[in-house]
Amino acid sequence: MIVTIDNPPVNALGAEVRQGLWDAIGAAEDPGVKAVVIHAAGRTFPAGADIREFGKPPADPWLPDLCNRIEACDKLVVAALHGTALGGGFEVALACHTRIALASAKVGFPEVNLGILPGAGGTQRAPRLCGAQEALTLMIEGKPIDAPTAMAMGLIDGVVEEDLLEQAILLAGMLVEEGKPLRRSGECRDGFRDPIGYEAAIRAARAVKRDPNLPAPGRIIDCVEAALLLPFENGLGYERAAFEDLVASEASAGLRHAFLSERRAGHIPEAHATPREIAQAGVVGGGLMGAGIATALLGAGLHVTLVEADRERLAAGLGRIDDLHERAVKRGRLSADAREAEWDRLGGTTDLAGLGAADLVIEAVTEDEALKAGVFRDLDRVMKPGAVLATNTSYLDVDDLARVTDRPADVVGLHFFSPVQAMRLVEVVAAAKTAPEVVATGFALAKRLGKVAVRAGVCDGFIGNRMLTAYRMAADILLEEGAAPAEVDAAMRDFGFAMGPYQVADMAGLDISWARRKRLADSRDPAQRYVAIADRLCEAGRFGQKTGAGYYRYAEGSRTPEEDPAVADILQAERSARGIEPRRFGKVEIRQRCLFAMVNEGAKILAEGIALRPSDIDVVMLAGYGFPRWRGGPMKAADRLGILQVRNALRGWAADEPFWTPAPMLNDMIKNGRHFDDMNAEEAQKS
Ligand code: 3HC
Ligand code: NAI
Repeated sequence: MIVTIDNPPVNALGAEVRQGLWDAIGAAEDPGVKAVVIHAAGRTFPAGADIREFGKPPADPWLPDLCNRIEACDKLVVAALHGTALGGGFEVALACHTRIALASAKVGFPEVNLGILPGAGGTQRAPRLCGAQEALTLMIEGKPIDAPTAMAMGLIDGVVEEDLLEQAILLAGMLVEEGKPLRRSGECRDGFRDPIGYEAAIRAARAVKRDPNLPAPGRIIDCVEAALLLPFENGLGYERAAFEDLVASEASAGLRHAFLSERRAGHIPEAHATPREIAQAGVVGGGLMGAGIATALLGAGLHVTLVEADRERLAAGLGRIDDLHERAVKRGRLSADAREAEWDRLGGTTDLAGLGAADLVIEAVTEDEALKAGVFRDLDRVMKPGAVLATNTSYLDVDDLARVTDRPADVVGLHFFSPVQAMRLVEVVAAAKTAPEVVATGFALAKRLGKVAVRAGVCDGFIGNRMLTAYRMAADILLEEGAAPAEVDAAMRDFGFAMGPYQVADMAGLDISWARRKRLADSRDPAQRYVAIADRLCEAGRFGQKTGAGYYRYAEGSRTPEEDPAVADILQAERSARGIEPRRFGKVEIRQRCLFAMVNEGAKILAEGIALRPSDIDVVMLAGYGFPRWRGGPMKAADRLGILQVRNALRGWAADEPFWTPAPMLNDMIKNGRHFDDMNAEEAQKS
């Protein structure tokens, strides 16, 4: 009997699929059935349980029960794997009596990335087949492995190059003919052959220091240990209890939200448009960002021409790309051959006319309106018709840049983040006249670069830098009112950021934003609060790590921040000048103020239509700004806390300082009993 799973796009094991499999195994009891082959239609064997069902009331039959029923079946059940047999999908395969896979197939347990563990017998069956060491690596690292590796580990029984289903049927026929007893993973003891090694692997895994906010790895270790210590049925019960705890945890809710939000971000109004073909690219400006972007484009197989202002700066830009390649080779991320090939695809010039053949250009020159407008005017002249003209500007108006050209439909913002090789985010900024296929091209390019794209509208700072400005404003107000930089940083690290805002500022350098503030000084709204602490630090020559002093001081050659009494003096002088009586802030208030300022700004960004949906703001903060992924992003965190609590806190603080005035959207949400996630669901239905 052949059972075909058919639930596009990834054959997730939703309730209907589980019921179908359940019924199929029931039907296999028919005496006419000799064996069952389970395979999948489309691009993959099931890539897991249906993540959207977690957190909802469970529907029968449960996946663990289904796996047990498959294993208990008294007819031979063969799984035929292709694509990515992951999580629950791989657990179904492990419950079958024999597994055969296409050589190109990948298998694994990515559950840990969702803050959970394999919950359909995977933690009990896998170690029985391959031992503790390899099972732990698979489940704790969450990285898929290819079929031949899985076969070497004893997790699958055969690998074929083609004709998977035919081969699976042949194999089933042969095994039935042989008449050997069925090989049930739950009864297998191969993985227990070396119990001392097994226990050592458990001890070694326990000894690794892990993030206390992420409980899944620890529970995986417990379950794999239980596989050795408990009878199979009890082990399954142990795994179930751990799975249920983890599914209910804040970390898993946040990580699941992050996973689904990243996919949802691709659902844009322009999704129907066909992206333009991009083979040749130009990058104008070979500084920090331009060099990073050029390196990423080369890595994705494009031909790249770098344009700099003069020969000296061109040599420096090419040198930066060389350095990035050097680092990638040293870290084993790039082979020497690949580096050679990439270098062959790179050209450099000081003349924009050299971009005549390019399908796309990304402008990354110094953040200066007149300079960028000049570059766009020239690009309009030299680029071929149909080329995409993109800017990496952080704050400037993309509509203004589009207007200086005769082809505003071809102009788009492609906002990368620093360091480009490490940050996964690209904001695709759609200006008023940007053509749908140009937005779609931005998304397609981001995917090709292995990055996650989020659509943003035009405003000062788009989504990410606006959120960052609000976060920094909240933190700066805290400093001015009495907190120390180290207290703010510690509170935000406690919240889950790897670094607090002042550590980040010292690392990035204080001089660039100082220059920007001076440039914008005339256009600043005098009614808005202006915290001048950063200006005072810069005036004192404290530009951050690079000058050995910023919000902290740094010993010669060290990057370790030390609290500096000179900073305390500067803070105190500022407070006195403004007549502020300093007060102490606890950790909870610090992080609430920083988080709620972001949520408030997010609500304004949504109301203005700059972001399509709240989860896009979450993705920006997770992929571009180091917001702790397990919290799901600021909008998700606000939903969890309750919009009423956020609004009331803001309202209380606004009595003293208008910066905190709640966005009208928050009031409307409370009135209508809505959460940010309701908007995510509505947007999903629209697209
Ligand atoms: N449940 C529900 N939807 C899923 C899904 C899942 N497990 N996996 C993928 N999807 C959806 C995505 O949301 C996306 O939806 P969209 O078309 O509406 O945007 C669509 O399938 C395609 O996904 P991708 O864009 O990610 O496609 P790729 O080809 O880039 O990647 C993949 C395919 C490698 C399978 C990737 O989707 C993936 O890693 N999926 C998650 C795998 C996973 O985590 N499995 C474990 C689930 S938990 C589990 O099984 C618990 C069990 O132990 C009890
Ligand atoms: P940078 O100062 O490191 O590099 C700018 C480069 O542009 C310099 O190498 C300069 O020689 C070159 N340049 C100036 N005029 C030119 C011209 N007419 N033709 C060709 N090249 C010219 O600056 P950085 O940091 O790389 O920023 C570039 C752009 O990226 C800016 O718009 C900035 O706002 C944006 N950005 C910066 C980020 C960051 O973290 N530094 C993050 C995201 C965007």
